[in-house]
Amino acid sequence: MSRHERIKIAPSILSADFARLGEQVAEAEKAGADCLHVDVMDGRFVPPITFGPIIVEAIRPHTSLPLEIHMMVESPERHFEQLRDAGADRIIVHQEASAHLHLAMGQIRDLGMESGVAVNPGTSLSAVEDVISDMDLLLVMTVNPGWGGQPLIPSMVDKIGRARAMLNGANRAAATLEVDGGIKADNARLVVDAGASQLVAGSAVYNDSVSVAHALARIRAAASPP
Ligand code: DX5
Ligand code: ZN
Repeated sequence: MSRHERIKIAPSILSADFARLGEQVAEAEKAGADCLHVDVMDGRFVPPITFGPIIVEAIRPHTSLPLEIHMMVESPERHFEQLRDAGADRIIVHQEASAHLHLAMGQIRDLGMESGVAVNPGTSLSAVEDVISDMDLLLVMTVNPGWGGQPLIPSMVDKIGRARAMLNGANRAAATLEVDGGIKADNARLVVDAGASQLVAGSAVYNDSVSVAHALARIRAAASPP
């Protein structure tokens, strides 16, 4: 992407107040979020269990923003249709969790959704190079998945740069390059300069010390090119 395109921000509801999820989702939309990031965890691919399609269905009426589902789930394809019916717009599967990645990505698109692929910090980008034309989004994990509130792993900044070069080199510059984990106002510029076009932010957006609107405005200002 060119440096002057608007950076997209995707608040992760993992850090939201689940007792008032509808309001929290609406707050993010009002504050100018570009989409909502929904972390589905199965207790197997990652230790925690979060939520699944019924929560997607519950928040769908509270926002018109696209809902992207980050599936930290083994054999994710078992749930695609149900997630689509619940209101998902984009599904991101982990390279490490899908034995038939190319097939899974086709299934996501065939169901009318955008397809994304996530790579863990320890996974080489070469593991997804052969499906680059099948993805609408590449998610470079900047923490090990499973928990909000972890610090960004510094060596991932170089990997973002290599992911950007890989997309551009394959004529896929228009695909979204998303980063997830430890993104805050104070490192947003760093990851954008490395080539990210969409930032997930969980604990930096939903926390007790600052409003959602203020938090988003800070990240937006920090991420925007001068
Ligand atoms: C971690 C999740 C993230 C998480 C990010 O496994 O994929 O989306 O919500 O949280 P922060 O922004 O607090 O690192
Ligand atoms: Zn996530």
